[in-house]
This record gives sequence, structure tokens and C-alpha cells, in this order.
Amino acid sequence: MKAAYIESVGPPECIRFGDLPAPAIGPADVLVATTAVCVNPVDTLIRSGQLAEKLPFPFIVGRDMTGVVRAVGSSVTRFAPGDRVWCNNQGHHGRQGTFAEMLAVREDLLYRLPPGVDDQQCVAFVHSGLTAVLGLQQVALQRGESLFVNGGAGNVGSAVVQLARSRGARVFATAGSAAGLAWCRTLGAEQVADYHDVGGVDRALAEFAPAGVDVHWDASGQPDFDRAVARIARRGRIVVMSGYAARPPFPSARSTSSTPRCTASPSPMPATTRRAPQPTRSTAGSCKAGSRCAPTACCRWRKPPSHTG
Ligand SMILES: NC(=O)c1ccc[n+]([C@@H]2O[C@H](COP(=O)([O-])OP(=O)(O)OC[C@H]3O[C@@H](n4cnc5c(N)ncnc54)[C@H](OP(=O)(O)O)[C@@H]3O)[C@@H](O)[C@H]2O)c1
Repeated sequence: MKAAYIESVGPPECIRFGDLPAPAIGPADVLVATTAVCVNPVDTLIRSGQLAEKLPFPFIVGRDMTGVVRAVGSSVTRFAPGDRVWCNNQGHHGRQGTFAEMLAVREDLLYRLPPGVDDQQCVAFVHSGLTAVLGLQQVALQRGESLFVNGGAGNVGSAVVQLARSRGARVFATAGSAAGLAWCRTLGAEQVADYHDVGGVDRALAEFAPAGVDVHWDASGQPDFDRAVARIARRGRIVVMSGYAARPPFPSARSTSSTPRCTASPSPMPATTRRAPQPTRSTAGSCKAGSRCAPTACCRWRKPPSHTG
């Protein structure tokens, strides 16, 4: 079968496109013929070695896919050949990735694609959409609460806007262009502002939620804790998206020295992806020093009793 794979971590030049043996399925596996895949930020982190994973080389890149079931293992009960399915958790924890014609997926990691849902639209949404779902569950967003999304027109941000609205929250979103602001409104944001005018955002936000917002979600990849803390209400919650350009840096996992590295001529990777992240304690989270955290960190921050804002 054709697949996109790497034999060592490194720059994009390490990715090969060629033939690999089709996967064999075990009793609890489902064999799926891929119809659509997509690239997420985490895929570039794993391929480059910035996010250390034990990869089974040759390693097929990619996490998400939609497809059609071709065969099922002897203990599989939920799927049958012909079913349309999706998954978003391959290429992780020793599992092969999704950028291949055929894929063996554990039954418990596979989901049915609802009738009428387009494969490409689904696969483009599952990773960022689930990231948004996880964060909203962590902050236990309630109907009527206010939520601020910095970067509301992006992958995760646009999912947060829609899901927060569907839960009955009031949403304020920022974007960096007129089109992005209009898009946020279309998705359900009650109030929008251009993030380039930080002072303007603060003023509009103070009008939107005079006692502070209940949830501050920074999807920009450039979280600013001081600003976020200043904007939230008493018992407000903060969600930050980790990115390698983030300050303060998040705990992350560097490749071990034994991880094979690609010798392909280096591409001009942005400085942010060359920088080795420094393990550090999350400012407001529950992470222990040096621990390894998921790409999304959610912090429940309680203001001290003396705080009057
Ligand atoms: N995608 C995922 O599932 C996922 C999962 C976990 C973590 N992450 C991390 O979360 C971050 C966002 O990921 P994404 O996939 O949503 O990226 P994205 O689609 O590029 O969205 C980021 C958004 O941030 C906005 N932005 C850029 N600079 C900004 C600034 N100075 N202030 C406020 N907003 C700004 C951009 O707005 P405009 O487009 O309007 O300029 C853009 O829409 C990244 O650091 C990523 O590594 C992503």
C-alpha cells in the first residue's frame, strides 16, 4: 500500500512517499481503507522530534482519518465491512499514523461517521473540535457564563466559539482581520474585536463582562498569563493552548538522544520550531516541575480572598 512515512525524526524532507506492507489486524482491530486525512500542529511536532514519542519506524505520519471498514477482527462487535468511520488518535503511543491507504485501528479508538457528514469536513474538524470539547469539559462551562476566545477564527478557536454558544454561553472572540471577525460572528460570537488593538480588546471586554469573564481561552499559541488573570472574574477559569512559541514555555518532551534523526538537508524551519523547550512549572496549573503535559493545559485559577475584582 502507499503511505507517507519517516524512518527518523527531522525536517519535512524526511517524509517519504512509497510502498509499505498493508497492516495485519488482530482480534480487536478493524481494517480501514482511508478516504481523508489532515495535518495538525502536533503532527509536525512528532515528525520533527520536538514532541518525544517512541515511534515504530518506518513510522506513518498523521493522527486523524476518515475511511471505510474493509475487515474486522474476530472479537470486533461494533463495526462491519462497509461502515464509514473516523478516528483521531493514531500515530501516538506506539501506534502507526494515518497517512496510508490502509490502517489497522483498535475498535475502541474508532467511531462511526454519521450519515450525510462529508469525509473531508469531518477530518478537518475532529482534532481541533475534540481539543475544544476537552477544554470546555475541564472548565465545566455553564449556560449563561461568559467566555473569551483569543484567536476565535482559528482551528481550535472557531470550534470553541461554536461549542460554547451551543452550551448557552456568551462568547467574545478576537481575530486579526475583518474576514476573521465576520467569521466569528457567523459562528455565534456575540462580541468581536481585533486582537492587534490589545487596549481596545480590554475595553470592549470590560463592557462585555464588567466583573470579568468566567472563562478565558487563549487559542493564539502566545498566551499571556498576566493579561488573562487580569481579565477573569472571581473563580474564573483559564485555558491556554501550548505552542512552541508560547511564553512562559510549557513542560514538553524533547527527543531522547537515542531517537534516530534525519540527515536530510535542513529546511529553513522557523526559529520557534528550532528552539528546544525548557521544562518548567506551569504558572497556574497542577503540573509538577519537569512533568510532561498534554498540548492543551487547563488551569483552574482561584483569586485569593483579598481580591475584590
Ligand atoms: N489544532 C489543534 O487541535 C491543537 C491541539 C492542541 C494544541 N494546539 C495548539 O493551539 C494553538 C492554536 O492551534 P490552531 O490549530 O487553532 O492554530 P490556528 O488555526 O493557526 O489558530 C490560531 C489563531 O490565533 C490567532 N492569532 C495569531 N496571533 C494572535 C495574537 N497575537 N493574538 C490573538 N490571536 C492571535 C490567529 O488569528 P487570525 O487568523 O485571525 O490572524 C489564528 O486564527 C497552537 O499553538 C497549537 O500548537 C492545537
